[in-house]
Amino acid sequence: MNYKKIKKEEFERLKKLFPDNEEMWQKYRKQRLEQFNKKEIDVFVIEENNEIIGEITINYINHDLQTETIPRKRVYLEAFRIGKNYQGKGLGQKLLNYVIDNLIQDGYTEFTIGVEETNEIAKHIYFKLGFTEAIDKGHGDEFDPSDYILYLKKIDWYYNIEKLIRETNLGNKISTVDKVIGGLSHRMYKVVTDKGIYAVKELNPNVMKRKEAYSNFLFAEKVTDIAKMNGISAIGTNKINGHVIKTKNF
Ligand SMILES: CC(C)(COP(=O)(O)OP(=O)(O)OC[C@H]1O[C@@H](n2cnc3c(N)ncnc32)[C@H](O)[C@@H]1OP(=O)(O)O)[C@@H](O)C(=O)NCCC(=O)NCCS
Repeated sequence: MNYKKIKKEEFERLKKLFPDNEEMWQKYRKQRLEQFNKKEIDVFVIEENNEIIGEITINYINHDLQTETIPRKRVYLEAFRIGKNYQGKGLGQKLLNYVIDNLIQDGYTEFTIGVEETNEIAKHIYFKLGFTEAIDKGHGDEFDPSDYILYLKKIDWYYNIEKLIRETNLGNKISTVDKVIGGLSHRMYKVVTDKGIYAVKELNPNVMKRKEAYSNFLFAEKVTDIAKMNGISAIGTNKINGHVIKTKNF
């Protein structure tokens, strides 16, 4: 199974996922291709055996509501569909996560999505993935004329890291902050500034609540310092105002 962003030339391949109405498809296709040409949208898909089995469209420009997008910060997600035979297998959630990860790499930190009050499955997925703030109401379009609520998801860690960079003088950020995949207990981010490349670790509050957690952490720092003093290459935490950790919740 392959997740990717499609090129304009591949748009025709989405027809299979579109509700079976040739006239509507032609109208939809025309409108979308115009938006593609103006770089107002992108489409991400799941491919299986050369067939597109899931899709989602990203809008960089408002089409209905002012709250949908904010240039370079917030995008609007729509036309989220998984082929009938593939529904209920977790693919919709995987596609949505894939799309959001990609957009974070491009610097977007806010995501909106519209959902009808009666679409229980979609509502469940959106709430689970953090689209929890209802910010507006819309009335659909000719392709889907139902009323919907617009939900917002914000990537809070992004703002927290920007604050941390400022408050601890790590330098001026020169690229987007990347989440590093792999750690299970804590989270790690790669931060590139004009002063250096940093690994920023967000400590899991539940793990740090354990009695021995903080002393283990300090012990690891002491070992690192002793290693460094003896010429062994080791990288410890940045000391801020003489403290190993200064901030709480960043
Ligand atoms: C909405 C859609 C894209 C979801 O894709 P999917 O691959 O079927 O979804 P997933 O398998 O990833 O997830 C389904 C989730 O809904 C849950 N679910 C299933 N039936 C449910 C119900 N009646 N009420 C609430 N949740 C339900 C499942 O338990 C699962 O959640 P979990 O992983 O926490 O257990 C797909 O169903 C679809 O294409 N629907 C038609 C178009 C549509 O409605 N698009 C959304 C427009 S807003």
